[in-house]
Amino acid sequence: MYIFKAGVVGAGAMGAEIAQVISYSGLPVVLKDVDQAMLEKGMKHIQAIYQNRVDRGKMDVHTMQDKLDLIEPTLRYDSFEDVDIVIEAVPERMDIKKAVFEELMAACPEGTVFASNTSALSISEMGAATDRADKVIGMHFFNPAHVMKLVEVIPGLDTGEETVDTVVGFAESLRKIPVVVQECPGFLVNRLLMPYINEAGLCLQEGAASATEIDEAMVQFGMPMGPFTLMDMTGIDIAHDVGQTLAQEYGDRMVSSILFERLFEKGRLGQKSGVGFYDYGTGETEPLADIIGEVQAELGITTPTEFSVERLVFPMINEAALCLQENIASPADIDMAMVAGIGMTYHGERIGPLAIADRIGLDVVANTLEALQEKYGARFRPCRYLRLKVRANHLGEKTGKGFHEAY
Ligand SMILES: NC(=O)c1ccc[n+]([C@@H]2O[C@H](COP(=O)([O-])OP(=O)(O)OC[C@H]3O[C@@H](n4cnc5c(N)ncnc54)[C@H](O)[C@@H]3O)[C@@H](O)[C@H]2O)c1
Repeated sequence: MYIFKAGVVGAGAMGAEIAQVISYSGLPVVLKDVDQAMLEKGMKHIQAIYQNRVDRGKMDVHTMQDKLDLIEPTLRYDSFEDVDIVIEAVPERMDIKKAVFEELMAACPEGTVFASNTSALSISEMGAATDRADKVIGMHFFNPAHVMKLVEVIPGLDTGEETVDTVVGFAESLRKIPVVVQECPGFLVNRLLMPYINEAGLCLQEGAASATEIDEAMVQFGMPMGPFTLMDMTGIDIAHDVGQTLAQEYGDRMVSSILFERLFEKGRLGQKSGVGFYDYGTGETEPLADIIGEVQAELGITTPTEFSVERLVFPMINEAALCLQENIASPADIDMAMVAGIGMTYHGERIGPLAIADRIGLDVVANTLEALQEKYGARFRPCRYLRLKVRANHLGEKTGKGFHEAY
């Protein structure tokens, strides 16, 4: 199915940028919100993105105006009568999303695809609340959407093949990299990031290393930024919310550091509040070391544990192996998602966690995880699929076969 016109519901941080991306590709897009002030703020933000291109000499003012003219900001549904796809980017609450789909069913033609930009809610549940479960799908952009290349495409249990093909083609026409991910909590990127981020928090909380030391070590490893800088950028409230959801869904394997909760309670949300793990010039803030000290006293931690890069990266590899075990995505797509989604590299090469494991050796990863399990608990337990690969002598590059086939 070809997309001639699109709709976006919610003109906040994500919705406005998604509308900009669609207009940039040359398609008309209706941008709907319930709040005039948010709509104006969203349009200003879109204008600023285009203006920046003009200022850098990458676009002339006439083209900018043509692109802006493709966007119709509105508080009403009138112009949704001929949209081929709608992407909802309203707040992350199932009741709000379902209410929006209810309105969309009345406003759009029967064949319109309903896509959701949800970070963690169930696509299948949204589909079941509509008259067209076969046309409901997740289309998860990353923040900032006008920069980030990855789009996770998530079919629900009843989503039709044609809808998947349409959305993959649409994402490509927006010059994005679509990766199809079967529905699971956190989808792919957030699911793989969470054990890594949690472990960074636990290392800090247990005095294994400082935030700066951990961040520097991870940049040295090949991450574009360390876990604490990443959390400060994304917002500790978001990391906290996603962390809680994934801990509920996956249990002990995703147990979160109590430090995230403390920072969240103290309103230290990262860059947006002026202070998080790092201070962004607000002055007069409680030193992070004091908060860590309080947590340690509360938990009775007297001896620091040991930090290592493996302690953070290997649980991410283990989670990626679990995704393979559950058929969430192919090895190539998992690696592509982590490279395009968070900019992962290894020794200067843009490769993802499964290819990294193939290089290190799956036996080394499994043995190290077992040693960490002995020391720190069951969250490090190598998954069944990883152990199976080791038994089959699929150890990676050194045996010619690992998570990826044939070296
Ligand atoms: N912020 C991120 O980093 C990020 C990244 C990926 C996905 N997401 C997801 O994108 C969605 C939107 O997140 P956001 O950060 O843009 O939120 P936001 O709070 O910035 O924007 C939400 C917008 O929706 C509007 N809105 C509320 N109810 C509405 C309704 N009934 N109809 C129309 N508009 C309505 C609000 O006025 C607001 O403008 C969420 O599902 C979130 O999980 C967010």
